[in-house]
Amino acid sequence: MTRIRVLFLGDIVGAAGLAIFQKHIKRLREQYRADAIIVNGENSAGSGRGITPAVMRLFKEQGVNVVTSGNHIWQKPEIINYIAQHTDLVRPINFPAATPGSGMTTFICKGIEIGVINVQGRVFMRELLSCPFRAVESALTYLQHKTPIIFIDVHAEATSEKMGVAYMFDGRVSAVVGTHTHVQTADERIMPGGTAYITDLGMAGSLNSMIGMKKEPIIQNFLTQMPARFAVDTSLPLFMTGVCIEVDTQTGKATSIERIRVVDDAVQIDTQE
Ligand SMILES: [Fe+2]
Ligand SMILES: [Fe+2]
Repeated sequence: MTRIRVLFLGDIVGAAGLAIFQKHIKRLREQYRADAIIVNGENSAGSGRGITPAVMRLFKEQGVNVVTSGNHIWQKPEIINYIAQHTDLVRPINFPAATPGSGMTTFICKGIEIGVINVQGRVFMRELLSCPFRAVESALTYLQHKTPIIFIDVHAEATSEKMGVAYMFDGRVSAVVGTHTHVQTADERIMPGGTAYITDLGMAGSLNSMIGMKKEPIIQNFLTQMPARFAVDTSLPLFMTGVCIEVDTQTGKATSIERIRVVDDAVQIDTQE
């Protein structure tokens, strides 16, 4: 039986997230004997908003195969051309059809094609998107003919919505992982049909932040309801979370899912955008 092992990391937030990612990814890849890497990059620009072509280049240099995203994907306008021309960055598939880029992609790993779908939830989220469940169903009608090995990033606020996607497609995809809350959950498991699941992968960035951003302006905003400037927190220690998923390449079913959490209080941070 041939197996592939994939590292899947939660939202990399700003300069701090990129710094700990760059410091630890090679070691993690060896430690987990990973064949491929997928990360959520919707907050990976230095400012924590959006993603740029320069950050995509950095991810590629570090061996990342595919970058997924979410509601923050459009915050850096220079990514629009990039996403229209490349297949290594995906945006939620349930955005309107005319939106640049694609919500699904494939890449080759150990000579085997692997599919990735990115979909966004609708509960407690602002964008007016089409039904995430039906969007994944329709993506699978195409993708399932190409490969049984399929990873889904459900970028959503509500646990129920992420879990709903996982149960609906259990046994038909290799893994359903949640992103967007930036808080890693401890519910990773293989579902009855053989799909690996975790409600949220978490994030990479400053540990004593609020989802990667400085806490003081956020608390002030809660207290006063007045506009506040949110900024990436670069204070140490930094942390990075995600999972390692192993898949049987014949069946596409997951054989294991393991939670990862790295904490480091001595990371050099390049605070340039
Ligand atoms: Fe995020
Ligand atoms: Fe998000």
